[in-house]
Amino acid sequence: MESSLKQMHAFFNPRSVAVVGASRRINKAGHVIFKNFAENKRRGVFKGEIYPVNPHEDSVLGFKCYPSVTKVPGELELVVIVVPAIHVVGVMREASSKKVKAAVIITSGFSEIGNNKLENQIKALARTTGMRVLGPNCIGVYDSRTGVDMLFLPETRVLITGDEVVATPRPMPGKIAIVTQSGAFGAAALDYLTGLQIGVSKFVSFGNKCDVDEAEMLHYLLYDKETAVILLYVEDIKSGRKFLEVAEKVTKKKPIVALKCGRTKAGARAAASHTGALAGSDQIYDAAFARTGVFRAKDMEEFFDVGKALVMQPPAAGKNVAIITDAGGPGVMAVDECEMKGLNVKRFSEEIVQKFNKLKKAGKLPRFATNLNPVDLTGSVTSEMFELASKIVFEDPEIHGVIILGLHHTPALQEDFIDRVAKVASKHEKPTVACDIGETEMALYTRYRFDKLGIPSYFSPEDAARAMNALVKYGLHLKKKKCLKAYLERFLKTSNK
Ligand code: COA
Repeated sequence: MESSLKQMHAFFNPRSVAVVGASRRINKAGHVIFKNFAENKRRGVFKGEIYPVNPHEDSVLGFKCYPSVTKVPGELELVVIVVPAIHVVGVMREASSKKVKAAVIITSGFSEIGNNKLENQIKALARTTGMRVLGPNCIGVYDSRTGVDMLFLPETRVLITGDEVVATPRPMPGKIAIVTQSGAFGAAALDYLTGLQIGVSKFVSFGNKCDVDEAEMLHYLLYDKETAVILLYVEDIKSGRKFLEVAEKVTKKKPIVALKCGRTKAGARAAASHTGALAGSDQIYDAAFARTGVFRAKDMEEFFDVGKALVMQPPAAGKNVAIITDAGGPGVMAVDECEMKGLNVKRFSEEIVQKFNKLKKAGKLPRFATNLNPVDLTGSVTSEMFELASKIVFEDPEIHGVIILGLHHTPALQEDFIDRVAKVASKHEKPTVACDIGETEMALYTRYRFDKLGIPSYFSPEDAARAMNALVKYGLHLKKKKCLKAYLERFLKTSNK
């Protein structure tokens, strides 16, 4: 492993970690962070040594407390700094004299409020000592497998009534990495993904990025075996050339979905006061993402929807999309969205049309079903009809991706249509996405079951079409770079397909 990667490893899987500012007071950030490590160590998930550092305490949560980093016995790989800004440089100096490999500075109060002088001191220390630094003004790292958890946001919260509710859940292990300039949005993302039961490999909040930036993090994640898809939230990218080089390399192996905010003048001003970001021209970002194959999501919803699609489904080998539905209107909605995104929903070939006509004649599909693309099986649909139509469409060599709009409201449709369609889809390399509209138990069940079977499902036909668009765009990018075959081989080895 390259030595720079090895050093970055200390952020995610350190052999020893000190939490500087570990407090006994339960509402303090330093308490929550140390408690996370202590609990994960007790559960046997975090395997390294942990040390609380605080000059005012002898012990924290049963662990011997040290007055400074220099007093911690033996080697120390990582420090998490949770003390007010004025103390940070002093702690960093002590850490460097202790030959600490990496430091995460949670503390706010640096360039984001114009305190560039203090941030420059940290930058200089990182440069001269070689210690890698994440932050300041960040929420650090969460690794779902090693038990590194620097999130100072408690998992549960006690309401005024005394009831305890889940507040900032930690997601289950999975293949999506989140790399974010905004800690708050990152925490919200964990909440959202946990709710959707989508697993996360690693979470990194890099805040003001005084040393480690998004490009370096992407480079690290390229080699991370647990990560298959990267979700990146940024407000600015300072090292443009480095980013272009790294992103180009990463997207040949792993998709990157970017949510870049600060598009408008006022948005850019808000970004500048949030993380000190200099947003730059939005068109430049558009061009840079397009050139490197990074998918730029238009908003938060598309960001998550696309991440979910890319982690569950293979990319498409072309632009031709088929839609199978039992709902005419939503079918039209999906067609419109596909076409507006540049996908083709073209009429099926005569051979395919004849296959459908044969089934209609045999009474296996409704006589009044339409079958030119979309296939509308109408309100008389049954599970078997969905299965039969899927077989024809998936076997059509001209089709590269399939959207299943299986609205549950029709009377003869049983929920087993989901399993039947998924079984057909699993025999083909073509990406599949699904949609059911509604918020009833049945709608939730339908989407949940599709998700469980590895077919990402969405709330609206447009969302499903946009998810398919990302699968097509990524497929075309891989094709252009001559990497599609290799990607598909890797993907199919580890998926339901
Ligand atoms: N070494 C070790 N411990 C030290 C210390 C030092 N040099 N200096 C102070 N401490 C101790 C304090 O005594 C205190 O422990 P105590 O509760 O036992 O007294 C603890 O460290 C924390 O210091 P305190 O002064 O109480 O600060 P705080 O907990 O109120 O706030 C931060 C500290 C870092 C959380 C706060 O400054 C901050 O930056 N908050 C915003 C964080 C944020 O939002 N980050 C970005 C998210 S996107």
